[in-house]
Amino acid sequence: MQNSWMFLGIESLIVAVLLLGWYFGARRLNFNIHHLVVYTVILAHALVVFFWMIPTAQEISNWVFSNPIGNLRLVLHFGIGMVADILSIALAVLFIFRRDMPLSILRRARPVMITTLTLWVIAYGLGVVNLLLRYL
Ligand code: HEM
Repeated sequence: MQNSWMFLGIESLIVAVLLLGWYFGARRLNFNIHHLVVYTVILAHALVVFFWMIPTAQEISNWVFSNPIGNLRLVLHFGIGMVADILSIALAVLFIFRRDMPLSILRRARPVMITTLTLWVIAYGLGVVNLLLRYL
């Protein structure tokens, strides 16, 4: 329970840094800021997901999937969160190989980046709502 609030704080900080990275990095085509933010955020988030969210998901999965409609918010959180995580890692790998982001790649990557950021924020929102409804 106390851990949940601590991880909520960490995830909130991650989303804030991500949005700042989008505003100051992506929107202004400053790829140094953008890539630095993406790598930092993905690393910090991966630690939370691997050491907290996945073990917790395993613990509660029997209960969650015994009533998937009743627990739809959690099911959506797992699903959307997983897609956002996979897309973000794929993009981070792309940024490692194409640091300069030529226009031809940027054009194709842009919709994927926007989708990833949107799914990330939705997963975050669902996480917050789940936590608040559970404990408040
Ligand atoms: C972009 C991806 C994700 C974001 C932004 C995110 C964010 C959050 C937030 C803000 C919370 C509430 C704080 C907390 O309880 O610690 C949370 C809880 C949780 N997340 Fe995620 N999450 C993501 C991906 C995932 C994935 C991929 C899984 C598992 C497959 C997962 C499983 C969980 C679980 C089990 C909880 C606790 C649920 C509860 O006890 O109510 N999350 N997440």
